Amino acid sequence: MKSEHAEGMGRRAFLQLGTLSAGALFWAGGARAVAERGPWIQETDKQLRVGIVGGRFGATFHWHEHPNCIVEAVSDLAPDRRQHLMQKYRCEKSYESLSALIEDPAVEAVAIFTPAPDHAKHTLQCLEKGKHVFCACPACLTIEEAEEIKAAVEATGLKYMNAETSYYRWETILARELITGGDLGALVYTEAEYYHPGIGASTHSLSLEDGERTWRYGYPPMLYPTHSTAFYIGVNRGRLRKVSCIGLRDDSDPAFPDNVYDNPFRNAMGMFVTQEDTPFRCNVGWHIHAYGERAQWFGEKGALYMPDCANRPLAVEVNDNRESVLPDYWERVPEDMRYDSGHGRSHPFLTHEFVMACVEDRAPAIDVYESLAYCVPGIVAHQSCFQDGAQLDIPSFDP
Ligand SMILES: NC(=O)c1ccc[n+]([C@@H]2O[C@H](COP(=O)([O-])OP(=O)(O)OC[C@H]3O[C@@H](n4cnc5c(N)ncnc54)[C@H](O)[C@@H]3O)[C@@H](O)[C@H]2O)c1
Repeated sequence: MKSEHAEGMGRRAFLQLGTLSAGALFWAGGARAVAERGPWIQETDKQLRVGIVGGRFGATFHWHEHPNCIVEAVSDLAPDRRQHLMQKYRCEKSYESLSALIEDPAVEAVAIFTPAPDHAKHTLQCLEKGKHVFCACPACLTIEEAEEIKAAVEATGLKYMNAETSYYRWETILARELITGGDLGALVYTEAEYYHPGIGASTHSLSLEDGERTWRYGYPPMLYPTHSTAFYIGVNRGRLRKVSCIGLRDDSDPAFPDNVYDNPFRNAMGMFVTQEDTPFRCNVGWHIHAYGERAQWFGEKGALYMPDCANRPLAVEVNDNRESVLPDYWERVPEDMRYDSGHGRSHPFLTHEFVMACVEDRAPAIDVYESLAYCVPGIVAHQSCFQDGAQLDIPSFDP
């Protein structure tokens, strides 16, 4: 089943959009493809029992507000974060670790928000215990882990979804609808970037905890590619075939290259080739005067530019018209979840999509194949950085 259930552009939202100006009507093509689906209406009382692991980023989702979801249990190694999760999700049951939580037979699915280097191990542990998995990005850090995750999801038939926020930023939803509706024409070039200055550095607040190095200390940029790659793959289910990537070697901070990853790079600027043989420029940087997660999409007939850190606004250009207004997508998620909790209002949409995929027994929008397609190209790009930008082939993890 096509897995964009959370994405029917409601007729009301479209009509509002249509009244913005005559120019706004050029979006009609993109809206047409999905307008008939309308707002989300609860059609089943089935409920998914979720366990949530990791009490920092993991405490910013909407599980307790979804009518088809029950927060069965929560876990964090740290007691204060465990407590925070219990309060946030109004849940009385907690466990001291993921390993303990997955022994609970009442837990049907686990939402994993543990450090990135643990994602593959924790995903495999959950799948082995028969739990569906919703995992923070990235899915994994090595090709071998990607193979193991794919094999485990296929062998168990369980649901797997990556919590990639870029997929449900509202500008990405709009891009997806304009592109699948044909409004931009064929995509000829896409640019995407994730800039987070200072992260990974020896003095950054997220690099040290109680004087100990965290997993973010010296973290390789291209092992965190998904905020950027999702901007291309997530709009057209495209694939990246090859990459040449330039890494910035910078020894001005002691975290590079003295880190558990032996990583000398603080920025990585990649030029990818897509399966349509078009270029995709994709940057990830920790040491640059720029900020944010954004993209711009160029088609044969139109273009969409996300707002940027230089205060340039959203711009949609189709048929010689230029608009700068986002449609309102709130009616696609349950009422109690309709507020912004971070990352471009994506969290309610990610929560909703995973819950409904499990309840409706269908593939989630960001299934295992999409998740690995976001993540594996970065692993190869990181290898290319060590080879002065040599162009390398990207393996496919599709069925
Ligand atoms: N926009 C986004 O998509 C976005 C934003 C922030 C973080 N993230 C991702 O979310 C994940 C979590 O990020 P964070 O900033 O909260 O990380 P963090 O390292 O601050 O927190 C991870 C938490 O997991 C807990 N934990 C680790 N192992 C555990 C185990 N075995 N059992 C129970 N708890 C365990 C730790 O105690 C810690 O509180 C990371 O992988 C990160 O990449 C994604």
